[in-house]
Amino acid sequence: MLKPNHIIAPQPPHRQPEIEIMLDEVFGLSRQTKTSYRLREGEQAVDGLSFIMTSEQDELLGAISFWNLRIGEAGTEALLLGPLAVDPAHRGQGIARELMQYGLNEAARLGHRLVILVGDEPFYARVGFKKVPDGQLLMPGPVDAGRLLYLELVDGALAMASGLVLSPRRYKS
Ligand SMILES: CC(C)(COP(=O)(O)OP(=O)(O)OC[C@H]1O[C@@H](n2cnc3c(N)ncnc32)[C@H](O)[C@@H]1OP(=O)(O)O)[C@@H](O)C(=O)NCCC(=O)NCCS
Repeated sequence: MLKPNHIIAPQPPHRQPEIEIMLDEVFGLSRQTKTSYRLREGEQAVDGLSFIMTSEQDELLGAISFWNLRIGEAGTEALLLGPLAVDPAHRGQGIARELMQYGLNEAARLGHRLVILVGDEPFYARVGFKKVPDGQLLMPGPVDAGRLLYLELVDGALAMASGLVLSPRRYKS
């Protein structure tokens, strides 16, 4: 349960530098070289699907965002979840789970059908993510196959998605 004094709100533009500093601290500066970042290059996070959690004192506790993807020749639409990060001083209080659940509910409400991510299955399984069957999705860079996960917001959505995962910009060009 969200602590009553914790607030989830859209990521405000003026807090972007603070969010980026937290992400650098949590993931290290090499985060920009990961395949998930390649999918975000030159793109904007999905409107209405980037959130922060703050404390009563307005401290930044955690952040999450979602990005548009296109999959395979059919260009099936999906979302990429991430980055998701929680300030080290505030971990283990359910902040990540709350942020994920909030973001996934909003994504479903906005009509999105499928979410994928690269991450630790034991952690993301807590909100329903499962491993993508081997070979169904091809990422545009190195990814440990056991860390490529999906969550259907609409039953059967994964069956419609197969092939190369691209950012919308690369899919068009
Ligand atoms: C992973 C992270 C987002 C979790 O944030 P959090 O607010 O502490 O998470 P929650 O409180 O919702 O959940 C904590 C639970 O998840 C577990 N957990 C955390 N990271 C895990 C992992 N990588 N694998 C499996 N379980 C994990 C914790 O052990 C804890 O278990 P418990 O509830 O049984 O005690 C945070 O540790 C973080 O920012 N880590 C660095 C960045 C990162 O790894 N991001 C995710 C990409 S894989």
